[in-house]
Formats: sequence, structure tokens, C-alpha cells
Amino acid sequence: CGIVGIIGQGPVASSLVDALKRLEYRGYDSAGVATLENGHLERRRAEGKLRNLDALLQQKPLRGRIGIGHTRWATHGRPTENNAHPHATNKLAVVHNGIIENFRELRAELVAQGHEFVTQTDTEAVAHLVTEQINQGLSPVDAVAASLPRLKGAFALGMLFDGEEDLLIGARRGAPLAVGYGEGGEMYLGSDALALAAFTDTITYLEDGDWVILRRGFAEFRDESNRVVQRAKLKTQASAFVVDKGNYKHFMAKEIHEQPEVVARTLAHYIDFANNCVRLPFELPFDPKALTGITLTACGTAYYAGLVGKYWFERFARLRVEIDVASEFRYREAPMPENGLMLVVSQSGETADTLASLRYAKTQGQKIIGVVNVSTSTIARESDVAAPTLAGPEIGVASTKAFTCQLTVLASLAIALGRARGVLSADEEKRLVNELMVVPGLLAESMKLEPKIEQLSHRLGKTTDVLYLGRGPSYPLALEGALKLKEISYIHAEGYAAGELKHGPIALIDEQLPVIVIAPSDPVLEKTVSNLQEVSARGGKIILLGDAHSIAAAATPLAGEIVMPAMAPDFSAIVYAAPIQMLAYHTAVFMGKDVDQPRNLAKSVTVE
Ligand code: G6P
Repeated sequence: CGIVGIIGQGPVASSLVDALKRLEYRGYDSAGVATLENGHLERRRAEGKLRNLDALLQQKPLRGRIGIGHTRWATHGRPTENNAHPHATNKLAVVHNGIIENFRELRAELVAQGHEFVTQTDTEAVAHLVTEQINQGLSPVDAVAASLPRLKGAFALGMLFDGEEDLLIGARRGAPLAVGYGEGGEMYLGSDALALAAFTDTITYLEDGDWVILRRGFAEFRDESNRVVQRAKLKTQASAFVVDKGNYKHFMAKEIHEQPEVVARTLAHYIDFANNCVRLPFELPFDPKALTGITLTACGTAYYAGLVGKYWFERFARLRVEIDVASEFRYREAPMPENGLMLVVSQSGETADTLASLRYAKTQGQKIIGVVNVSTSTIARESDVAAPTLAGPEIGVASTKAFTCQLTVLASLAIALGRARGVLSADEEKRLVNELMVVPGLLAESMKLEPKIEQLSHRLGKTTDVLYLGRGPSYPLALEGALKLKEISYIHAEGYAAGELKHGPIALIDEQLPVIVIAPSDPVLEKTVSNLQEVSARGGKIILLGDAHSIAAAATPLAGEIVMPAMAPDFSAIVYAAPIQMLAYHTAVFMGKDVDQPRNLAKSVTVE
């Protein structure tokens, strides 16, 4: 979960551990460091807290002047010492955040070539992949250059090589990584500015797809196509820490781009990737087989996350879901079923209406699960179980990364309930878990559409009204898209169920109105296409957010298109959230609005 690397002048082990301590806020369950001792790789790793690693280093000190360190939150394989990072062969040691999606294929290929694996982690596949290239005669730098294109997923990597006293390599795809410059030529690598704050205030953030070659007093950045590129040096404010904007103009932009990483982190908390199953981080506070239904309430963006969740709970767990905004629910005096579950969703965990709904449900004998981002919040405390979203602090008033993390938790919970109720087979669970596992990588890929989205946003920025349409789980996404746009650009926008269009809003369609149609390739695509053609027939200006297949299926002239990567349909809502957010963001920036603090809005609404 946290990566550090140091090329120092003196021994680095204790500095590595200090830097890891600064990353403790990310959460972890094991930790480790590797250095070069007389030119050779040596590792120290320990389960549990950093003090265990500290104690181990007291007993068996490391004196190397170059090293890497890591705090791990188990994804593939249990949080044991053996599975702790760094992972190593006799050629290199690797630390890694995120998920290598194709590690099973890589592992099979490398085992066939004679490599012996000693852990269940996806990271070890990276170590062996690079080793194989070195064994073929490539230099460490060339070996990494040859290996990176073979990796799929969203991740950040740090690598230390046997016999190389003056070389560290870092790579970033979907998960952040920064380089720091020391005053005496020391070089640093870290997951964020916070990890490096104690050493330097001069840093460079890698851009997505970049990798970097570090030597004393030297950093060479290369892009995804292995071209040498220049990346700016920035001065960080030592106190900026967790709430640093990084190299983004706004917190909202930073938070949008953090999604591959935080969704991966949230998934890692709920999913056992090694065994392809959901593993909830808590005991269910009820008998799932006796469960009669779910009532879901929330406000704003969290409510829309709940609306998407409803599709999953119905489909995977065959549960009835009653859902309402909390401000309505709390006063409806709704009868609630026996053996019912109340799900409340809240980023802050302090929203007054959501909290009041929770308290009402308690008086009605419901069991409560609170899906919350702030684990110390009132809603977390008053729920029977707090299901954490691990989005990290969200500063932008318009919620982005909390939303996709809420979706991630709701999806995992729906699968878990389906299994526990005996209505979802182990094979189905496996299929769904495999689909969830690729979501961070797909999110990272969709970030590449940003220039195109920015271009489209200049057109939206000149309009006064926008209509968003979607069907199935894309319908709540249409609502969320419209909400994001209104919140930060102040353009009037409405989200509508595509099939409901003809019952009213079709009257609005003219040659001016932009209509954003969210249409992933899913079982309702054909129906959405019919609605899209109704708009087209009336001269409406359609911007289609879909994949190559849905865009071809639209078979109608489009005013704009955002071509998403192809993916299985079940969790497209998590991935499609990113372009929807970027569209609102760039429209507001283009219009010169205060994106992080839009007028009249508050991040946490603790009044009715
Ligand atoms: C405010 C925020 C929204 C958020 C809603 C619910 O209106 O501006 O972004 O979705 O509250 O907040 P919660 O903290 O309960 O998720």
C-alpha cells in the first residue's frame, strides 16, 4: 500500500522505515525493506505493525546505502511474512501497489520457463518476469523496459537490483508515484509527497504510464513508449501532506485520478484475489438466509451509489431493495420488515438526514450496515457494522472517488450476500470477482480519454441545459452525471431513464440540447439504442459514452463520442463514472468556476 525507495549516502534502512511510518495512514498488515549489503540483496520483512519490522532490524541490522521498502495490505495471499514485500529473486527485489491483472498467465509462463515461485502474490510475477529478461542478457534498465509492456492492471512499482549500488527503478500506471531530490545527490521514490516529506521538498510526480531510472543525483523519466521525457520539479509544502493537490490544479482532478488506486485498495479489503472470492472484513450482523429485504437510504451522490447497488442486490442476492433519499425516508414513517437490513451510504458519515434515517431504522428493529468513508464518524459508530470505503480523505465538495469506492463496496456486499444466501454459485462468484479485479485497470485506461473529454467539455460549457440518459445501472449514472455538472458548472442538467424519455422530456429535444447517452455494451443496449434514435430523429445532439461496439450499434450520426475500453457489463457503472466526472470537471474549469468549492454547497451537511 505504501512504496519508498532511497539511494542514500549512508545506511538507509531506518530512513526507509521512517518514510513507511508516514504512510501508515493508508493502512497495512505487513511491512518490509530490502537493501544491498556488500552489493547483494538482503531483505527484512515482518507481519503486523512497523514496530515489528523495527525490532527485526535491531536484531539483524542492514547497512546498505540503497534500498526499497513497503507496507502491504494483503490482496493476493494472506498477510504473512512470506507474502510481505519486497519480493525478490537473486537478481532483483520489487515493491508494488495495486493489482497485476494478468499475473496468473505470467506465472504459468514463467514456471514453464523454470522459475520457482515461493509466494501467492501477483508481485512475484513481476520479479520473475524482469529476472527472465536479465537472464537473457539484458541490462536491468532494458529488462524493465521489456517487461513493463507485458503487465496489465493498475499499479506502481519500485525495483532494486543485485550488484547495482547506484540504480533504482520506479514505474507508475494507475497508482501514484513521486521522485524526491536530496541536497547531497540522494534520490527518493515514494507513493506520495507525504512519504518523502521528511527528506526533501523538491519532487516530481510521474505521469501515468511513466517510469523512472534513478541514480545518485540523476533521474531519467521515460513514458509508456520508452521515450525519454521531461517532467517538472515542484516544491511541496512540508505541511501539505495528505491534503496536497499533487500536480493537479484542483482536489477534484486529483481525486478523479486517484480512483484506480483507491478502488483497488477498497477491493483488496473485500476480495480474496488468490481464491477468487469475496471475503468481507466483518461478520454479517444477521442470518443472511433469514434476510427479508434491504432498505437503502443516503443523500446526493451516495444515494446514486445506492441506486446502482440496488441492481446488484436484486440480481446477485435476489433481495428486494427499497430505496429513498434520506430526507424523505426519515419522515415517511415507513413500515419496515422483520429481519430487514438497513444500508446507509455516506462519505462523511455525518449527514444529518442519513443519520436520522439510521436511527429510525433502529427503532424498527433493523440491522444496520453503514457504508462510510470516515471510520470514526457518527454513522460508523452507530451502525451495527461499518463497511469502510478506503477512498482516503475526499476534499473536493463534489464527490468522485468516494462514489466509485461506495460502488465497489456495494458490489462486494451484493456478491457476498448472494453466496451466503445460496442464490449465487461459486462459479458465478468467481466470474464476478474476476470482473471486479479488472476495474482498477479499466479506470486507469479510461483516464487516457481525458484530452478528448476536455475537448467535448468546451461545447457543453456554452450550453444552458444538458440531458443525461441511461438504462439499468447506467440510469443512476445519468443522474450522477447530471448532478456533477449542476454542482460545479451551474449548468442545468437532468438525468433520465432512457426508456422514460418518451413520457415527457422528449419534448425538450431540439437542435441545441446536448443529450449525453450512457450506453455500455450490456443486455439493455439495444433498448437504449432505440431511445437514442428517438432523440436523433428529432435533431437532438447526441454525445455517446459507450464502447466501440455500442457506438457502432447506435448507427446514427453523433455530435460526440467517448470510446471506452470494452468490458463485461456487470460493473461498467464503476468504470463509466470516471468519464462522467471528467466531463463535469472540465466543463466547470472551462467556464472558470470554483471547482473544489462550488457556490452554496457544503462537503458535509449536518443540518436538515
Ligand atoms: C453533500 C455533498 C455531496 C454528498 C452528500 C452526501 O451534499 O455536497 O457531494 O454526496 O452531501 O454526503 P455524505 O457525506 O453523506 O456522502
